[in-house]
Amino acid sequence: MSTDATTKVLVLNGPNLGRLGVREPEVYGSTTFAELSDHLIGTGAALGLDVEVRQTNHEGEMLDWLGEAADQQLPVVLNPAAWSHYSIAIADAVAQCELVIEVHISNVHAREEFRKHLVVSPYATGVIAGLGLGGYDLALTHVAAVTERD
Ligand code: DQA
Repeated sequence: MSTDATTKVLVLNGPNLGRLGVREPEVYGSTTFAELSDHLIGTGAALGLDVEVRQTNHEGEMLDWLGEAADQQLPVVLNPAAWSHYSIAIADAVAQCELVIEVHISNVHAREEFRKHLVVSPYATGVIAGLGLGGYDLALTHVAAVTERD
């Protein structure tokens, strides 16, 4: 893990999360993805982290980003969105990374049955679910704490 004064962290978001704010606000809230991104960059700066926030609807692009994180030993905060429930490719990519905190905005365990099936989680370092967008902040706080100790 990097010991630079500012540790780079990738905050990676899967399909439909670019539509935060307009997508099912009763589940995911009214904050837009752009607002979330700005907020997380600020949270990172306060924690001494250089946060880069990305979102894609394309699985191959996410696989390339996770490969980049694995090669550069970058910590990752990951919301795999719907891929959480079925993508063995994303699970295999996460398995190659050193530190991945999986975040779900909603409590996937309290929703439809299919959302309780999580194929990426066994390969994540830890999982945060159901704490709203604050889950991303908590994940970054954890990344800051563990990279500081290295
Ligand atoms: C989600 C939960 C998933 O079930 C869903 O497909 C998403 C978002 C969450 O953040 O709560 O797109 O990962």
